[in-house]
Amino acid sequence: MDSNGLKKTIRVKIISMGNAETGKSCIIKRYCEKRFVNKYLATIGIDYGVTKLAVKDRTVKVNIFDMAGHPIFYEVRNEFYKDTQGAMLVYDVCNRGSFEALNSWLDEMKQEIGAPSEMEKVFFCVCANKIDRGNQRQVEEGEGRLWADEHGFHYFETSALTGEGVADAFKELFNGLVTAYENGGRAVRIQTTLGYTKDQVETIQRLKNSNNDYERLGIRPGASKDDINKAYRKMAVILHPDKSVAPGSEEAFKILVTARTNLLKNR
Ligand code: GTP
Ligand code: MG
Repeated sequence: MDSNGLKKTIRVKIISMGNAETGKSCIIKRYCEKRFVNKYLATIGIDYGVTKLAVKDRTVKVNIFDMAGHPIFYEVRNEFYKDTQGAMLVYDVCNRGSFEALNSWLDEMKQEIGAPSEMEKVFFCVCANKIDRGNQRQVEEGEGRLWADEHGFHYFETSALTGEGVADAFKELFNGLVTAYENGGRAVRIQTTLGYTKDQVETIQRLKNSNNDYERLGIRPGASKDDINKAYRKMAVILHPDKSVAPGSEEAFKILVTARTNLLKNR
């Protein structure tokens, strides 16, 4: 115990990971300095900062290593993976490629962190960032949550611009780090709690993003009435709002009903 009645101070190291321009530095700046910088200033190699806070009854000193996402900085960043306890894995919801790159970020980390068991010590939070640009969104919430859930990671919808979700993500990250510390250095993965499937998420995605009603139902142009109804029934079973809890199910179900009605009407 120290003079403030707190248990021993612990030191932790966290890193940010994710493609260039996804908002890693801005998320950290939002959290540490409560401000947002609109201009893109690429991180060169690595940025370093420290912060101190109280979690539960401990003082936590946090070393933050903000990594550059650009591939040319691989050589600089690779040595910073070691001895990491926490990671913010960031993608830009308006850039599908940055979401698809998440696995390769985990691969890079696995490669560089040393023994495979080291990965189990790292507590991850996923930030689906730039949600303020909703109309340009390329990755729906359900899809992001599903990816995080499959890995046992926590998921947050964030905006470094408005600040939404940022404090929550860091709070979860620091809580997770302290819990891991108390757990003998092993990070706790969350158990699947979502209750929805990839199939449901992909169906929602297709309904929302397709260009015409045939595409929405996944059938060829000029398909027969039978084909239309068959495709509709199959998708309705996947998406029925009474059964599907995937985000966006209700909206997608409405789109599905309208698409079928249009196709049958135009026949
Ligand atoms: P690297 O350092 O190159 O890996 O990039 P980074 O991931 O650190 O990105 P950075 O934080 O520098 O942000 C990239 C650009 O996105 C900047 O122009 C930011 O202003 C912008 N940006 C970051 N977060 C948000 C956000 O939540 N919403 C919006 N609209 N823009 C954002
Ligand atoms: Mg940066």
